[in-house]
Amino acid sequence: MKCFFTLTFVSISILSCNDLTSNKSQSGAEQKIDSLLSLMTLEEKIGQTALRGTSSREKGLPEKLKEQVRNGEVGAMLNVMNVEHVKELQRIAMEESPRRVPLIFARDVIHGFKTIFPIPLGQAASWNPDLIEDGARIAAKEATTRGIRWTFAPMVDIARDPRWGRIAESPGEDPYLAEVVSLASVRGYQGDDLANSESMVACVKHFAGYGAAIGGRDYNTAIIHEELLYNTYLPPFKAAVEAGVGTFMTSFNELNGVPATGNQFLLQNVLRDQWGFDGFVVSDWNSVIEMIPHGYAADEREAALKAGKAGMDMEMTSDAYADHLKDLITEGLLDESTLDEMIKNILRIKFNMGLFENADFESENIDYHPDHLEAAKQSAMESMVLLKNSKNFLPINFSKTKVAVIGPLADAPHEQLGTWTFDGEQKHTITPLMTLKKQYGSQVNFVSGLTHSRDKSKKGFSKAIEAAKNSDVILFIGGEEAILSGEAHSRANIDLPGSQEELIKELSKLNKPIVLVIMAGRPITLGNILSDVDAVIMAWHPGTMGGPALVDLLSGKISPSGRLPVTWPKSVGQIPIFYNHKNTGRPASKESFVGIDDIPIGAWQSSLGNNSHYLDDGFTPLFPFGFGLTYSDFEYSELRLNKKTFEIGDAVEVKFNLTNTGSKNATEVVQYYFQDVSASITRPIRELVGFDKIALKSGEEKEITFLLPIEELSFYNKNGEPVLEAGEFNLWVAPNAQEGIKTSFNVR
Ligand code: NOJ
Repeated sequence: MKCFFTLTFVSISILSCNDLTSNKSQSGAEQKIDSLLSLMTLEEKIGQTALRGTSSREKGLPEKLKEQVRNGEVGAMLNVMNVEHVKELQRIAMEESPRRVPLIFARDVIHGFKTIFPIPLGQAASWNPDLIEDGARIAAKEATTRGIRWTFAPMVDIARDPRWGRIAESPGEDPYLAEVVSLASVRGYQGDDLANSESMVACVKHFAGYGAAIGGRDYNTAIIHEELLYNTYLPPFKAAVEAGVGTFMTSFNELNGVPATGNQFLLQNVLRDQWGFDGFVVSDWNSVIEMIPHGYAADEREAALKAGKAGMDMEMTSDAYADHLKDLITEGLLDESTLDEMIKNILRIKFNMGLFENADFESENIDYHPDHLEAAKQSAMESMVLLKNSKNFLPINFSKTKVAVIGPLADAPHEQLGTWTFDGEQKHTITPLMTLKKQYGSQVNFVSGLTHSRDKSKKGFSKAIEAAKNSDVILFIGGEEAILSGEAHSRANIDLPGSQEELIKELSKLNKPIVLVIMAGRPITLGNILSDVDAVIMAWHPGTMGGPALVDLLSGKISPSGRLPVTWPKSVGQIPIFYNHKNTGRPASKESFVGIDDIPIGAWQSSLGNNSHYLDDGFTPLFPFGFGLTYSDFEYSELRLNKKTFEIGDAVEVKFNLTNTGSKNATEVVQYYFQDVSASITRPIRELVGFDKIALKSGEEKEITFLLPIEELSFYNKNGEPVLEAGEFNLWVAPNAQEGIKTSFNVR
């Protein structure tokens, strides 16, 4: 996904970059846009910049809104969920507004519309782009039956801080995996043809740096130097442009002192000049006028001026453009040609969507179609990550095992849908308890013990303990309710909330096996209870089909194949912790590490190695990025390369053998990491550069080949130019970011 290079001796710099303008429209369409624009009055142009919101709960169709559409004062609508209202507003726009410009109807269709798929972080954990693409396509098929043709997804903010509630919506911490997710999602929503009435325009968000909010506090300041921005935070956005994404959303945060919504560097220099994006940019909800409290604009007029000059095309919900663009232009503060470019960007997408020819849509009900439910189940199954399985306790033979099902999320249909579920209904959601009861009836004894995840009461403990006493196995399904992650839902502590830990502690006194299933929007710190449980499955918020998916895994119908898309910390004190960090001059090591309990009394100041670690929590996370167990074991061997020295244009041919040495059929996610050992800008200790999902039968061995074009080893300099420097590279073929077999080679 990087650009192409030519080689110079020490540094290889780009001559030409991929043509990122593949979504550049045909000149015929551009002519239509120009001629339409030439007919539009200043007011009509400004009308196109308005994305008007109605509340998700709005029932009627306000007369005022109809009037605005009739007058050409609206470019797009958000959250109109009544099909008749969509049709009526579109009819008014196309029959009664001055230039008959169609509206676009938008909605946050984030991880499914009616059929809810796992939260995006969960889908990333599937490491399966085909499934992610299918999920987006299905969401688009369902949503477009309501005339909703624009979704505010995918969210591709790199997230390195699990306190941040929106980590649930993100693809995790890794730029490569995020690129894969970004491409797959855009392909899924937009399909082959934006003009297909089952396609939605994707909106990649939030541009940019939103996930770097200080301390994980939502909306907070992001300070990201250029090299980090280009190499870590921007790649999934660039990938979306390469996939032909139609729209971008700016983020709420300021980036290095300038709010993203008024950030010319991001919106003009990077997005338009470097990447050739020709769709349109929408602000986030009120983020234009939020530049005032940011301290970047004195009033709404200045906010409109700064956003307009920066290259922000459409304003979501607030009215700074509607109220001030005209004056700003007539007073000569903003060029009308700048507004013209904004309108062209918007009209281009409307033309590409085929709306001018046909804005009608098929409203046949395909909600929760059996194929959609099957895909959601597959996605949930592949997203779940087995984190612990002492003595291969799982899978469970339920027909011979009495199970006490305990915990606040065992039967919580609303909660398992996760954040950003506006349209999926709990009445269609299948919980783990429902599935277990249906499949194994009398073997299952359910006592929730706690009414909800934050329940602090111990009233339900005794009944839960009683049920556990009469069972062979305790299945504790807990975690976080949906509301505890997502926008503005950051947490300072990320333990299991309420009395869940205490209940688990009480249950552990019975000396019965405990399987902990976590449903949550983020990694949960487990230090207090990990040793009390025998197995742990991270199920994220798994969506409509979470129950059947989980039971298929627990019963061993299928072996878990999810892998963590984020590093899982031991404690909040370790955050931020991510695998692709720099080495430092004094890297931590097992050899030199002395834990707090092992420090001799009166130890001499410099006797502890002076390396980069915590005395109390060491330097490794609880579970590394890429980690996940299966019901089998895999061995990696005989790593070999086709040669030792490579030149520009070469591909490194990596071969190795993978063997399923365990007793069960299973799927391994083989991960390829590299390290640029020495460079003009220090590089991370490992960088993911590819992965394969490989299913092997028990005892099966396979030779695997991975081709790595050497330009994938490049990094971006502070001007956003990819460079590849000659020298030594390490390469790992690995089950996660901390292990694997290693070799090295040179680039010259
Ligand atoms: C604010 C959120 O930040 C954004 O992700 C969402 O798409 C908009 N609101 C619209 O609901």
